Amino acid sequence: MRPFHIVTYGCQMNVHDSEGLSGLLRAEGYPPAENEEEARIVLLNTCAVRARPERKVVAKLGALATRRRAGTLDVLGICGCMAQEHGEALLGEYPQLDFVCGTGNLSAVPGLVRSALEGDRRAVLDMAGDIDRGIPRAHGSRFRAYVDVIYGCTNFCTYCIVPRVRGPERSRPMAEVLDEVRRLADAGWVEVTFLGQNVNAYGKDLGPGAPRFPDLLEAVDAVEGLHRVRFTTSHPRDCDEALLCAMAGLESVCEHLHLPVQAGDDRILRRMNRGYTYREYLDLALRAREVMPALSLTTDVIVGFPGETRAMFEQTLRLFEEVRFDSAFSFVYVPRPGTTAAAMADPTPRSEKVAWLNELARRQKEISRERNQEMVGQVVEVLVDGLSEGDPGNLAGRTRTNKLVVFPADGSVREGDFVPVRTTKAKLWGFEGVRASGDA
Ligand code: SAM
Ligand code: SF4
Ligand code: F3S
Repeated sequence: MRPFHIVTYGCQMNVHDSEGLSGLLRAEGYPPAENEEEARIVLLNTCAVRARPERKVVAKLGALATRRRAGTLDVLGICGCMAQEHGEALLGEYPQLDFVCGTGNLSAVPGLVRSALEGDRRAVLDMAGDIDRGIPRAHGSRFRAYVDVIYGCTNFCTYCIVPRVRGPERSRPMAEVLDEVRRLADAGWVEVTFLGQNVNAYGKDLGPGAPRFPDLLEAVDAVEGLHRVRFTTSHPRDCDEALLCAMAGLESVCEHLHLPVQAGDDRILRRMNRGYTYREYLDLALRAREVMPALSLTTDVIVGFPGETRAMFEQTLRLFEEVRFDSAFSFVYVPRPGTTAAAMADPTPRSEKVAWLNELARRQKEISRERNQEMVGQVVEVLVDGLSEGDPGNLAGRTRTNKLVVFPADGSVREGDFVPVRTTKAKLWGFEGVRASGDA
């Protein structure tokens, strides 16, 4: 059988979808290739959220066209959000492509590969169909696993393409999620990350009386053998006292909240359709820290939304000073086709927006380092991922707060182990440490 390789762009949801694509192809007997060059089947699992990931895919398609012409590649397919957005037109534009597969049609891929080998070129883009359930997953780790709990997004932030390419919010029934988690825990997985573009909206679409996200957390906390539960991404609009209390009270639920703020100015937040104000976000962040003093709070922010002025941007800077996030992903606004914001007047030059972004990122780096500095000397529980990529003399792992810790390798510790580590030095990305005795 021909070996396959999947190139993944974008968010954790795409990473998890690629685990599904890999599981489906393995179940058909296709082996994973050692590397991309040796693969005879290549799938690009794409992202459309900003222009840069799209450009990367276009460059990759160019490189793979050369392999197609040289006869070293038999099947080339495109999946994910760019596939959903551009659809069948991609087949016309890129003759090197055999198929286009939308975000709701993972299980169509083995059939698409088969027909490609018979010379057929096809697009499957039926987002209205049922979501793929129960497909085999080739998990990237033997002890940390992603679990989908809600698909799509119905928030329609005015800048965002995700609702167009992932469809409306659809929660999985709680029994199905719990069943998957129990099977993972029975097979030795110790950490799960619940996934959703708006994960804390879980259950809202299931009707009145249906379990909501805090109920799901409570139920999963009771699963034997599971040590850590994470989730991403939370929307401030759906982050309430019940969620904060569940996080604080449930032992397995980790003290990390990724809570994208996107902007600090109320007028910009309104134009973004985010559904909260500066004050409301700040109160929520402070309350979260009050109920969970050890909480790591991280965020996403967009700089240079249409109509944003220097004074408005300064509100974002001010909010960052007040909240003191543990870390932040910051992006310069880019218009996305078909979104409401793409039609808004946007007079600020990009160079100015980039300067603002750099200013914000510089300040956030200082804050991240300062926050980590405050934790130096503490003993933290680390789930070991394996040898450190940069330094194979060290092991690397994550704290409950999702911070990276590296510490000297020691023959008795293996990947998947929980070990107490004393932090000795703060870094931007986390800590250096040494193994501590006793419990974390
Ligand atoms: N669902 C999450 C949320 O509500 O924040 C994440 C959505 S998106 C996959 C990840 C991040 O990309 C967003 O939080 C936002 O900061 C950024 N983003 C989305 N659309 C963008 C755009 N048009 N320009 C720049 N950044 C964008
Ligand atoms: Fe996009 Fe907003 Fe939905 Fe996040 S909540 S995926 S930013 S529309
Ligand atoms: Fe990108 Fe799609 Fe995720 S647009 S960020 S891969 S949901």
